[in-house]
Amino acid sequence: MQSKQSIHGSWGSRWIFILAATGSAVGLGNIWKFPYITGENGGGAFVLVYLFCIMLVGIPIMMGEILVGRRARQSPINAVRETAAEAGLNRNWSLIGWLGVLAGYIIFSFYSVVAGWVLDYIAAMGTGQLVNIGSNEAGERFNSLLANPVQMLIWHTLFVLMVVGVVAGGVNKGLERATKIMMPALFVLLVVLLGYSVNSGGFQQGWDFLFGFNVEALTWDAVLVALGHAFFTLSLGMGAIMAYGSYMGKKDSIGATVLTIGVLDTLVALVAGLAIFPVVFANQMDPGAGPGLMFVTLPVAFGQMPGGQVFGFLFFLLVGVAAWTSAISLLEPATAWVVERFGLKRPVAALVLGAIIWLMGIASLLSFNYWAEIKLFGMGIFDLLDFTTASIMLPLSGLMIAFFSGWKLQQKITRDELALKSDLVYSAWLLVIRFVAPVAVLVIFIAKLYEKLA
Ligand code: PFF
Repeated sequence: MQSKQSIHGSWGSRWIFILAATGSAVGLGNIWKFPYITGENGGGAFVLVYLFCIMLVGIPIMMGEILVGRRARQSPINAVRETAAEAGLNRNWSLIGWLGVLAGYIIFSFYSVVAGWVLDYIAAMGTGQLVNIGSNEAGERFNSLLANPVQMLIWHTLFVLMVVGVVAGGVNKGLERATKIMMPALFVLLVVLLGYSVNSGGFQQGWDFLFGFNVEALTWDAVLVALGHAFFTLSLGMGAIMAYGSYMGKKDSIGATVLTIGVLDTLVALVAGLAIFPVVFANQMDPGAGPGLMFVTLPVAFGQMPGGQVFGFLFFLLVGVAAWTSAISLLEPATAWVVERFGLKRPVAALVLGAIIWLMGIASLLSFNYWAEIKLFGMGIFDLLDFTTASIMLPLSGLMIAFFSGWKLQQKITRDELALKSDLVYSAWLLVIRFVAPVAVLVIFIAKLYEKLA
């Protein structure tokens, strides 16, 4: 089984895989969500918990996902089924794949709406609409975008098409080509923006905010958010990384590769924070503005600074590129599955699936205007989808992957596939995937449940 090739192709090199997976991992989660949840949860202490979650839960589970994907070299649903069969287990383990693909679908639907806002801001920054904009005006501009479903629909549609276009091209002519162009661009943009923020006058304050430790700010809620975000930001629990892993070379080391991806993703989140908060502080603005941090606070801040229009434009371009490479990995697993299952041509599969996502996204974008009154558990559709996926489905799916790869697959299979250099590292992985990761996820779940019920 190990020598099999994926029918979809395989990455040209180990670094292409690392960059593609990093492209999946680095997205709105790093540049939009991480800074604002850090802001809402008081800064440094939250960052620390988040780092623990990445190391002790995220990275080991990512290894589990990749090993299953590479073992079977198929889309996640089929990969879990086939690996289960190889291990003499029930084929219904493919449920893990289904849960992942479903979560990925839901995420794409609202991810694309936010990515649409980003496209709108690229255009607005590029045409100088936000120069010298005041706080109220910026707030109004963002609100009027949210109140305008047609405008949001146009951007949402464009974004879905951009993603379908790449996935339709296949692993080598689509995903790999996009990775080669977009990832270097992303790193360059990030460094340029960091340089700008270092000179903004608020760097020290931004640094202290991110890395200053403030225990009081730490709540169970914050820990749950940090854990959910660790899954989200590493693209875990929804087959994206498993699908990418199935195109990985047989000889490449999973451990070192995953570590590189985890470090790069974390670095980008931290550098994004360092690019954003100093600019916010330099303009005496509030870092805890929530989701509006990027769309209201930042445009005001950029608008008042020398060269702000150019750097603001570059900033939103960066976010757009990051969102694009992530969304590609949300569509890929389902597309690969449809190609395998129904023998459809890839472009057709990508287009059909894209159309379904596009329709689902409309529910999310309407929840900001016409359907704003529709609420469940106090949340609108958009927030509910975000909460259900990031806080429930991803941890649950991660838990199942940990259980499957740590407890159910024979050690012969996992040891062979991970091919870690030392036995000690393998034992450490086993210990973490069997006990630490599942216990961490469970404890936090139960604490959250208790808090809700008490
Ligand atoms: N990791 C991406 C981010 O941080 O924005 C989001 C994401 C992409 C989640 C792909 C899941 C996924 F499969």
